[in-house]
Amino acid sequence: MKNWYFFREAMKSFRTTGSITSSSKALIKKLVEPLPTHRPLVIVELGPGDGCVTHAILKKVHSGSSVTAFEINTVFVEKLSVIQDSRLRVLSVGAERLTDYFEAGTVDYVVSSLPLSMIPKEIKEAILKQSQLVLRPGGRFLQFQYALQDYGLLKDYFNRVSVSFTMANFPPAFIYSCSLSMV
Ligand SMILES: C[S@@+](CC[C@H](N)C(=O)[O-])C[C@H]1O[C@@H](n2cnc3c(N)ncnc32)[C@H](O)[C@@H]1O
Repeated sequence: MKNWYFFREAMKSFRTTGSITSSSKALIKKLVEPLPTHRPLVIVELGPGDGCVTHAILKKVHSGSSVTAFEINTVFVEKLSVIQDSRLRVLSVGAERLTDYFEAGTVDYVVSSLPLSMIPKEIKEAILKQSQLVLRPGGRFLQFQYALQDYGLLKDYFNRVSVSFTMANFPPAFIYSCSLSMV
């Protein structure tokens, strides 16, 4: 298996990893599709894991962008730390501490691979509330999930939530794009 250490980490801590393998190229492409390329962006990544989404973000976005990744698994943090890109900052910190690092209205995109359905309700709500707070007007929260069970919760925090789907992942996944305004 190409990413055997992802599988190993999933076996050690499935409740926080939330999957047995990293996301497919097709899913990652859909997840990062909304990121504009023509201007510098402030991006937060939640749950980067082995960095498969991180690499796609860095490859796509403007050279003046910054990407701050929040990851709680220290094995993944070590792997992410070897990525040579001055735009990337890796924090060995839970996503529920987002507002310790970002002021309100300062982030363009939050890109999340967090296994929301497995995260305790109070932590999940803290993450969504803080994501909502740090986003600029017009900013977006991008998230994939394997089921639609958190759709209602996302609607509580973002007044516009659209969903797309891909079969080209194991398991097939829904991709949310959430924003605070109608733009
Ligand atoms: C489904 S994996 C996604 C990994 C990778 N981005 C991908 O798409 O394949 C979820 C990741 O979220 C991390 N995670 C879980 N809870 C977290 C939290 N509260 N804060 C930051 N990272 C968390 C896990 O350690 C794991 O690396």
